[in-house]
Amino acid sequence: MDMKIAIVGLGYVGLPLSLQFAKSGVKVLGLDIDSGKVNSLKRGKSYIKHIASEDIKSELAAGRFSASTDFSAVRKVDAVIICVPTPLNKNREPDISYIIKTGESIAPHLHRGILIVLESTTYPGTTDEDLRAVLESGSGLKAGKDFQLAFSPEREDPGNPDSKVALIPKVVGGYTAACRDKAIALYSQAIRTIVPVSSCRAAEATKLLENIFRGVNIALVNELKVVYAAMGIDVWEVIHAARTKPFGYMAFYPGPGLGGHCIPIDPFYLTWKAREYGMSTRFIELAGEVNTAMPEYVVRRVIEALNARRKATNGSRVLVLGLAYKADVDDMRESPTYKLLDLLKEHGAEVAYYDPYIPLIGPTREHAAWKGARYVRWDRRTIRSFDVTLISTAHKCVNYQELAQWSQTIVDTRNAMTGVRTKPGQVWKA
Ligand SMILES: NC(=O)c1ccc[n+]([C@@H]2O[C@H](COP(=O)([O-])OP(=O)(O)OC[C@H]3O[C@@H](n4cnc5c(N)ncnc54)[C@H](O)[C@@H]3O)[C@@H](O)[C@H]2O)c1
Repeated sequence: MDMKIAIVGLGYVGLPLSLQFAKSGVKVLGLDIDSGKVNSLKRGKSYIKHIASEDIKSELAAGRFSASTDFSAVRKVDAVIICVPTPLNKNREPDISYIIKTGESIAPHLHRGILIVLESTTYPGTTDEDLRAVLESGSGLKAGKDFQLAFSPEREDPGNPDSKVALIPKVVGGYTAACRDKAIALYSQAIRTIVPVSSCRAAEATKLLENIFRGVNIALVNELKVVYAAMGIDVWEVIHAARTKPFGYMAFYPGPGLGGHCIPIDPFYLTWKAREYGMSTRFIELAGEVNTAMPEYVVRRVIEALNARRKATNGSRVLVLGLAYKADVDDMRESPTYKLLDLLKEHGAEVAYYDPYIPLIGPTREHAAWKGARYVRWDRRTIRSFDVTLISTAHKCVNYQELAQWSQTIVDTRNAMTGVRTKPGQVWKA
């Protein structure tokens, strides 16, 4: 099949997906409202750490990938895949305005036979109610009759070098059976395994289940971490032992709180939608409560560690290691490190951070106060000048042996110091 498609939203999801389709021989037009990103792509330059500029350059050169801010080009494509953000607003309610705006921009250019697929994580009903309404009213066409509509959730594991878009099974649900079949035909060109489900809603709900499952299980080990610590038991040791069970157990790891664009946010899309049905989502709420209490627990451990050296937090110098929300990525959205920095500052500590992937904190919606902060140098003199180092995210490229030699006290939320030679009493797990 000789196809041309458009992918809207060239971020962490849309860009790798575009390249995967292009590599598979499909002509891809990447669309984004951010002209900075589009210009960068036109020059063959990547803005995402784990995507190589060479991959973009070779698809540009082969004529299989191009980027633009002109949405009228939708007229010339067979399918559009939407990968725009789905955050929460300040009242922690779903903000699907990016999806709606995208729908409004593409609707006037829809033609008969075109397939529209939404990939953004969202509550059940977004595709066949909200997006459909915008597309139909802006185009005068009917979904399922004049154009096809489907939902297929994105499954990305940033920072995992073994995670390849083409090898991750893709769940697909359509507005009608014909919509689903068309979406299956589209994805089959780039992705090896397709998992059809009965509706857009079932596909939307599948993605939410996956992320809620993570959120709840992370909360469980976070709670156990605190309880076991009080009993003098190391939760990491327990998890490593439990994971030797060959069935019925899956390991999740504790941390300083939830981060990233998905796990802290997506479950609350369901919570919000459930209210419409008079239902509450108690597991989600409880997990949210446990996970959001983690930064306070971690800061308490920092205070205890300083106390043990007869130091007050007020006036102490604290270095937070790792600003990204997870190891080996440069993505700091929703990172709990910000919360740690804020709390420590509130306690009067002098705080700084080190993250090899984020040398400078740019503008952010929620953490404007940290804009312009730069990472400290990684050398003996600098690291020694801090009273305590708090490991918030454990990037593999950091030299933890050097940290043990240079830092006086280390508070470790990621078990990063296990296997590293340290001095007695130097490391505090948190
Ligand atoms: N990042 C992940 O690991 C991940 C994993 C699974 C699912 N998701 C989901 O995928 C979706 C996209 O996430 P992301 O991480 O790629 O976001 P992102 O912020 O990295 O990228 C989104 C892109 O959309 C663009 N955009 C915003 N509004 C637009 C509009 N009206 N028209 C065109 N482009 C527009 C932005 O400029 C940006 O380039 C979200 O729903 C997210 O929940 C993300």
